[in-house]
Amino acid sequence: MHFETFELERFQSTWENRVDYNLSESGILPMSVEELTQLASGATRPRQSFNHSVVRLIRMSLGYSQTNGTIPLRRSVAALYPGATEDNIEITNGGSEANFITMWRVVEPRDEVVVMLPNYMQVWGVARALRAKVKAWWLRPVATSSAPRRPIQWAPDLEEFDKLVTKRTKLIAICNPNNPTGAVLTREIMQSIVDRARWAGAWLLADEVYQGAELEGPVTPSFWTIAAGSRAPYRKLIVTNSLSKAYGLPGLRIGWVAGQRKAIEQSWAAHDYTTIGPGTLNDTLATVALSSATRRAILQRTQTILRAQWPILEKWISAHNTHFVAVPPQAGAIAVLHYSMKINSTQLANRLRKTKGVLIVPGDHFLLDRHIRIGYGGHPGHLKEGLKRLSEMVRKLG
Ligand SMILES: Cc1ncc(COP(=O)(O)O)c(C=O)c1O
Repeated sequence: MHFETFELERFQSTWENRVDYNLSESGILPMSVEELTQLASGATRPRQSFNHSVVRLIRMSLGYSQTNGTIPLRRSVAALYPGATEDNIEITNGGSEANFITMWRVVEPRDEVVVMLPNYMQVWGVARALRAKVKAWWLRPVATSSAPRRPIQWAPDLEEFDKLVTKRTKLIAICNPNNPTGAVLTREIMQSIVDRARWAGAWLLADEVYQGAELEGPVTPSFWTIAAGSRAPYRKLIVTNSLSKAYGLPGLRIGWVAGQRKAIEQSWAAHDYTTIGPGTLNDTLATVALSSATRRAILQRTQTILRAQWPILEKWISAHNTHFVAVPPQAGAIAVLHYSMKINSTQLANRLRKTKGVLIVPGDHFLLDRHIRIGYGGHPGHLKEGLKRLSEMVRKLG
């Protein structure tokens, strides 16, 4: 297998710890173990249960955990998917391992794979490494006729989708809510995607790591729920998710695959060849995070952060509207900004990093030049100072 460089990941891991202000992060300000356990005990009973969980953690034996995830953790995850049991869930090291295992298990050389773009480019890169024929299905910024320069949403084109998905399609990869745009598909569009996958007999891989990070309105429905509402559960639907984004717990490295029992058995078999299983402490803390009251409290924290911090970026974009325009994200702690300056996005990001010590993601990493991605879910002080430095650079660029 030959892997092309995963530009986004490599750029971030090279520079994120070497800059003054990191606005390349795509998740919510991570929680400490203390914050998580406090939140958990606050969500149940104060003090006494906090002390109890801390003591339990310290006394834990660091043996191997259950390789597909402990039953309590798989049950907590299964509770998110109507009709699912622990047998429908495989716990992985992050959503990235969940995506990798799925692709590795399903895709073979010359298979056709349709990938929604723009996207976190992992699935794209793995499909190419597996020598699949990869087809792009683009979300596009759409404006109204009264304000053609101000796009109001990143919209999918279903006609184009229907042309791309054929009886030869092996897998369709969707990211909803979407990274990097923050767009959320409507239920109707999700249903059309499921119907088309069923018609083609294709695997449908739905990466839902931003589910629960909506700025407004209800939690985005899972493809699991949409597919369950149709005639029969779709045997080839795979949902991946993790605690890294909407839950603010990326360091736990806990993700999962949800699917029909047979698919999950096969995932587990593949997982035996990758990392064996999740870390013992991680599995335990993830179980704490996903108990229903704690999960609610975590997602409440997420929404509070998003609602407080999006206006900071939104205000900055309006103040710089001669240079930048952005569709407001519906979910996720990231926004894609289109810019008018005549400079390539990688050059722009590198210049900002070198001259101002600020890291942002160039649109090139999403095959979307003349755009940048800014993460606004981290420390608010960092966001403000990073944006101030970006303003200084933009003034110089003219
Ligand atoms: C859409 C999407 N999926 C999966 C991942 C992988 O996340 P993790 O492995 O931390 O769960 C990311 C990380 O940025 C992402 O944006």
